[in-house]
Amino acid sequence: MVVASPIAPTAESTARRLMDSHGRVIHDLRVSVTDRCNYKCVYCRTGEFGAQYPELGIEEYLRLIKLFVNLGIEKVRITGGEPLLRPRLIELIEELARLQTPKGEALDLAITTNGHLLDKLALPLKTAGLHRVTVSMDAVDAPTFERITRVPGSFKKVLAGIRAARDAGLTPLKINCVLLRGFNDNQIEGFARFAREENVVVRFIEFMPLEEGRLWTPEIVVPLAEIVERIGREMPLVPMPPREASETARRYTFADGVGEIGIIAPVSQAFCGACSRVRLTSDGKIRTCLFSQVEHDLYGRMRAGEDDKVLSDYIVETIHGKEARHHIGEPGFLKPTRSMVHIGG
Ligand code: GTP
Ligand code: 5AD
Repeated sequence: MVVASPIAPTAESTARRLMDSHGRVIHDLRVSVTDRCNYKCVYCRTGEFGAQYPELGIEEYLRLIKLFVNLGIEKVRITGGEPLLRPRLIELIEELARLQTPKGEALDLAITTNGHLLDKLALPLKTAGLHRVTVSMDAVDAPTFERITRVPGSFKKVLAGIRAARDAGLTPLKINCVLLRGFNDNQIEGFARFAREENVVVRFIEFMPLEEGRLWTPEIVVPLAEIVERIGREMPLVPMPPREASETARRYTFADGVGEIGIIAPVSQAFCGACSRVRLTSDGKIRTCLFSQVEHDLYGRMRAGEDDKVLSDYIVETIHGKEARHHIGEPGFLKPTRSMVHIGG
């Protein structure tokens, strides 16, 4: 009888991986640290509510994030609400910047912010070890911008924040613009010019039904094809190859090679098949999809005294049950149990 000799484990084969039942490897964790926000964007909040869910302590987020990282998470994105409103955020970033993945590498550490407080915080965040930021900005002129955020003076603040982040080296700096027909679709060409002039990557996002109110209709969505066509009329676009399969944005440069834009098209060209993401809400629930109808109370188990092994097993099992895809636009579609501001961006 031939006995197979054991194969020496390679670094790759011993590295732990989180995998769902559809064979997708989950390596991106998005953590909301508050569902409070200082803006009342028309496509997000009704403007009536502040925080709706409790926040965990900074040490508690850290303990939970470490569990995910030990299971193979390589990218951590801090979101909200507005994450820069969270006291002790700098300390959290300092601690996260020290973590290593099971492969012995540093985490890819990013924040998505509305940019309002970034002019003062960009440098401290960079010094704490943050790599990059994505700033939400839905118009390139002040009146349109402030009609969307419903906060006077916000345009100047965000522009200063973007420039401070770029100067601090929080790059590549990405700008997210959610397009809504009739609100800001007249900004498309201006944003393309802005990307080139400010040396930032502008990503247009198709609006998803994740708002507190009832604004979403299929007609309000500005689809990828229309964005490409409109920019192309003025400045021809050249598609860029994807860097990784799970990338949310289709990337384009301009014919002269200067500048980059991206289009995130979850509605017209869903990217669920290559999804690598899992979310932790500000109150410590795991959401395996933006559109999940159920949440998984990781923090509740931690508070009840479960040890790291039990909590890690719970994460593995929960991720295994990740939904195959969202059902936006299909008959019977149900909005998720929380809106985007309370889930995390
Ligand atoms: P990087 O590649 O690390 O820069 O991050 P990202 O591309 O995930 O960027 P970002 O965090 O800015 O997310 C961009 C946008 O994509 C979000 O604002 C959402 O609108 C959308 N998005 C992010 N994750 C998901 C997801 O899991 N499902 C869907 N349908 N949309 C998502
Ligand atoms: N659809 C698409 N993107 C959204 N965002 C917020 N709400 C929606 C939505 N309904 C974006 C914000 C921000 C990030 C957190 O998510 O513009 O960039």
